[in-house]
Amino acid sequence: MRSLRDRPNRPSRPIAALAVAIATPAILALATTSPAQAQQSGNVTFSKDVAPILQANCQICHRPASVGPMSLLTYQEVRRYASRARDLVSKRLMPPYHLDTGVGIQEIKNDWRLSDEEIETFVAWVDAGAPEGDPDDLPPPVEWPNKQMWQLEDLLGPPDHVIKSKPFDVPAEGGDTWWRPRVPTGLDEDKWAMAFETRPSFPAGRQVVHHANPHLLRLTEEGRYRRIQTLSEYAMGKVGEILPGDAARLLKANDMIEWDAHYYPMGYDVPGDQVELGIWFHEEGHEPEFRQDLRLYPLRGDIALRPGGTAMTQGFHRWDHPVRIDSYQPHGHVHLHAMSVQAVYPDGNVELISMVTDFDARWHHSYIYEDDVAPLLPTGTVVVLTGWYDNTAENELTPDPEIWYARGSRTTDEMSHAWIAVTHLTEEGYQRLVEEREKRLASGDSGGSGGSGGDGN
Ligand code: HEC
Repeated sequence: MRSLRDRPNRPSRPIAALAVAIATPAILALATTSPAQAQQSGNVTFSKDVAPILQANCQICHRPASVGPMSLLTYQEVRRYASRARDLVSKRLMPPYHLDTGVGIQEIKNDWRLSDEEIETFVAWVDAGAPEGDPDDLPPPVEWPNKQMWQLEDLLGPPDHVIKSKPFDVPAEGGDTWWRPRVPTGLDEDKWAMAFETRPSFPAGRQVVHHANPHLLRLTEEGRYRRIQTLSEYAMGKVGEILPGDAARLLKANDMIEWDAHYYPMGYDVPGDQVELGIWFHEEGHEPEFRQDLRLYPLRGDIALRPGGTAMTQGFHRWDHPVRIDSYQPHGHVHLHAMSVQAVYPDGNVELISMVTDFDARWHHSYIYEDDVAPLLPTGTVVVLTGWYDNTAENELTPDPEIWYARGSRTTDEMSHAWIAVTHLTEEGYQRLVEEREKRLASGDSGGSGGSGGDGN
């Protein structure tokens, strides 16, 4: 089952129907009361046990003027939706988070899934008749950040440098439109970047920007600009990204940015829209050990979806040096049902790194691995991406299961690739990281440095 299939009033243009509001890690790190305590005492109440779970995992989207269809701030509001919420929470459909639980790497930064105990607490509360309890037990209300702020601002302060796309007039009606202006980075010296965040304008841009990627262009010896990598990838449902402490992305003086923005009209004019890229740099003089880049890794082969049909494609990638996989994000449109990423090691062993079933193009989540589990791949390892597509009536997101669909870049066409952040290692660097990790794990000191903090649970 995909997402909220049984919802009767699903919007007709699901991909474009949502604006974005994703929690900052600071909010996600809010403590919740121990469900074990609640269950022991046998009287789970809204004020004491449920409100903290909602604050930490639901209200970012379910509050006035956010993406959720209703607010879940007060007891009265939540009570009305208690049984529906019980259903969705127990099936792990809310909060929306599509990494499969139980297979592949589970230690992810900014993980907003509920723990089994939190789910049990929520279910026990509804089954007990959704009692309010003593309002004095309520945690203080959360102070939500200003939506005009950068999402990483709580952790890092305002960005050191901001690059804007050229203004674009988004029409009220029509199909998908692409906008690919080139702009200078505005940097007059080389800089090592440690964090990026791309954001559409607020509020209108968050409705009409389907995705926006700033690609980095560098001047070649022949005097032409060539695409080096993508600095950050924005799609609905995405937060900014902090690199691991030992890695950085290099921006050189005189590099250019080529924006690749995909707009989708929503019924009203949005004049002069601009997308912004915020960049946080390492301190002056800091030489990072390794270079990281974020690139798109394609899945090859035909995606020919006949009426009622399914398809599968794969992509294979290898490097001539050791690498570390820092993050994974599947990308497709309404037919992509699932995508896995596997490592085939030089000795033939195969490891499932991550699996996303019930992919939902409305929620683009980059799964950033915790420092001590980010896969370290020796030279010669092959990364295999496998995507499965569904054009059957089972898939309620397909606009029409009675017609053919093929590869293309419009919202209703299908496409598929994964965004993967890769840190490029030397042989010595690889050996050292493997040994250091083994030592840390042996001494029980896992977790590590350089992260974006807080796993939300
Ligand atoms: C990232 C944003 C986000 C988070 C976090 C989130 N929701 Fe939702 N929720 C949504 C959106 C968007 C919808 C509407 C879904 C759709 O249109 O398909 C929704 C729908 C729902 C519905 C169905 C409403 C209806 O009309 O039937 C319930 C109930 C719900 N959410 C409860 C929760 C609970 C409880 C949590 C926390 C445990 C939560 N949600 C966390 C975004 C979110």
